[in-house]
Amino acid sequence: MNILEISELRKSFGDKTVLDGLTLNVPEHSIYGFIGRSGAGKTTTMKIVLGLLRSDSGEVRVAEEKVSFGETATNRFIGYLPDVPEFYGFMTAAEYLRFCGEITGMQGDDIKTRSAELLEAVGLKNEKHRIKGYSRGMKQRLGIAQALLGRPKLLICDEPTSALDPVGRKEILDILQNAREQTTVLFSTHILSDIDKICTDAAILEGGKICLSGGISDLRSKMSSEGYELELSRPEEAAIIAEAFGCETEGCRIVFSEKQHSIGDLMRSLADRSIRPVHLTRLERTLDELFAEVIGK
Ligand SMILES: Nc1ncnc2c1ncn2[C@@H]1O[C@H](COP(=O)(O)OP(=O)(O)O)[C@@H](O)[C@H]1O
Ligand SMILES: [Mg+2]
Repeated sequence: MNILEISELRKSFGDKTVLDGLTLNVPEHSIYGFIGRSGAGKTTTMKIVLGLLRSDSGEVRVAEEKVSFGETATNRFIGYLPDVPEFYGFMTAAEYLRFCGEITGMQGDDIKTRSAELLEAVGLKNEKHRIKGYSRGMKQRLGIAQALLGRPKLLICDEPTSALDPVGRKEILDILQNAREQTTVLFSTHILSDIDKICTDAAILEGGKICLSGGISDLRSKMSSEGYELELSRPEEAAIIAEAFGCETEGCRIVFSEKQHSIGDLMRSLADRSIRPVHLTRLERTLDELFAEVIGK
């Protein structure tokens, strides 16, 4: 089942079109990476899903129920960590979670056990200081605990790692990965290595639409290119092979396109001429390259 289904979503601010027919399906228990450069419309999309912003057209369903702008009932399924979370600095983490539990109508005992469980999960169990002294990473971790308090079916985090150093980022990614047992995670980012590390699925938002989406293994298979780089020991050998196959050389290296020639022919040609390869490497595009290609930069 898809926990979130967005179809043909449109949103403009004045004459500026931000979402131009965005369609996205988030399968249950996935860790879904929502990729887009700054200003692509990630926060706008999330706010519409939460009913905090009115769309111009299109439909959003959470756990198969339709989202409506305003006080949408579907928010009972969602835990949300905004891009810049705000806290009461005078509270401790435990006090803050108790406060959040109380205003959302949770039972006292449940607040206690759930808070203890979550503070442990986000590494703030022994933190007695007030929130005002917290680092950004600690605030993000507390924000995730708050978002998970009501056992949501869908956890939405808006750029949870963007302002953090590598250690802080890894902590957040580990927490999100562990949260997958209990919920579905949708998080936005412009950091592609985050996607590589934990996501099961991802979608790229560009030009108001999803221009590429799917399971990570599918995306990876789109990433493998049909080329090889061959390195020989002498430039003269490289020149001979390059001439035979009509490819470019760079010193001792040749880049060989599998679309134009078969790798078997290349191997045979090397064997026939008794040329020993030093290296033969399959060229793989990185997620960064795929991203750049998809968004046409
Ligand atoms: N309330 C608003 N009024 C006018 N423009 C807005 C408003 N909110 C967002 N935008 C514009 O919409 C675009 C997308 O913004 P946003 O959804 O915040 O992008 P992202 O989260 O991907 O960085 C940006 O160009 C932003 O300036
Ligand atoms: Mg944003």
